[in-house]
Amino acid sequence: MAAVTADQTTQAKAQGTVQATAGGPDGADGAQLAAFDAAVAADERIEPRDWMPDAYRASLVRQMAQHAHSEIIGMQPEANWISRAPSLRRKAILMAKVQDEAGHGLYLYSAAETLGTSREELLDKLHAGRQRYSSIFNYPTLTWADVGAIGWLVDGAAITNQVPLCRCSYGPYARAMVRICKEESFHQRQGYELLLALGRGTPAQRDMAQDAVNRWWWPSLMMFGPPDDASAHSEQSMIWKIKRHSNDELRQRFVDICVPQAEALGLTLPDPDLWWNEERGHHDFGSIDWTEFQEVLKGNGPCNEQRLTQRRRAHEEGAWVRDAAAAYAVKHHAEKHTTPTPTAEATA
Ligand code: 3HC
Repeated sequence: MAAVTADQTTQAKAQGTVQATAGGPDGADGAQLAAFDAAVAADERIEPRDWMPDAYRASLVRQMAQHAHSEIIGMQPEANWISRAPSLRRKAILMAKVQDEAGHGLYLYSAAETLGTSREELLDKLHAGRQRYSSIFNYPTLTWADVGAIGWLVDGAAITNQVPLCRCSYGPYARAMVRICKEESFHQRQGYELLLALGRGTPAQRDMAQDAVNRWWWPSLMMFGPPDDASAHSEQSMIWKIKRHSNDELRQRFVDICVPQAEALGLTLPDPDLWWNEERGHHDFGSIDWTEFQEVLKGNGPCNEQRLTQRRRAHEEGAWVRDAAAAYAVKHHAEKHTTPTPTAEATA
């Protein structure tokens, strides 16, 4: 990409905020597209009022919607254990974590709204099965140790994937990710600490922790998406700096982080082909079952149906809350914009 000066970038970016005119792609004139490209090349943030290619907008909505949906569907597997947490401390931690996930969903739906798509529209698409959420949440939480494995592995994978998104080229998404990553970091630590406690417990507790890690390890590796040569969006997303690293790069980073942590926990990762490759400076690992991944994406995972049914039910049962909030907003707005009737005392 041709080098541009800071002045050219600022000037072109300013031009990019005017109404799109006929001519280039998406009805843009050349200056608008050049301004967009220059801003991305200069690592500037694209903001909601800036001109952007339609395909960039659509890809962001696609990814951010998938991400937001993952956060709110992701509340279900762990919420399942709130009433059965083994102590008040664990219960308080788990409730805070599940509430954080709801908050992450809200930040992300709000960030997606800046691209001109409403939360209602995105939720309708989720409920109709027309938009995705992460494959990982279609697996069941069978024991209390699963709460630890989700924190350590699932939230750990999420952080590995999401820290680079703090540098995403789209401003509102990047800013939402900063806070999300801080909270995900706490989630990962609580999972690790939970597994550490189980690992130091009775043999039955250690077995429960190992069983949970055995079941969550491979699905966690699938969270990073298909291999690079099968990833439909990675190349373009990286050109646009929505994504900064490919799926396989991040997956490898995650494996390298987890191996020493598993050793510290005294747990084994369920992969006989996992070993340190001196030459590559990374761990090699076994083949992922991509057939299982595709089946889960098609809706055939162990809990797909249960998760969507529960989500739709929660949405219906929450209708009165949305109605009440909307009625309050109308009332509040009316009160703010009505001139108060003068009292007798004031007019005397
Ligand atoms: N689960 C479900 N769908 C997946 C997937 C997964 N693990 N991995 C990929 N896909 C989907 C993609 O969404 C895409 O579907 P689409 O064409 O219908 O949109 C298709 O498979 C092809 O994959 P690509 O690699 O081409 O897609 P992307 O370039 O978008 O990369 C991604 C996939 C790495 C997941 C990327 O979308 C991403 O980084 N998303 C943001 C992070 C995110 O979504 N995280 C969810 C994880 S869970 C979470 O955050 C909750 C936390 O509390 C743990």
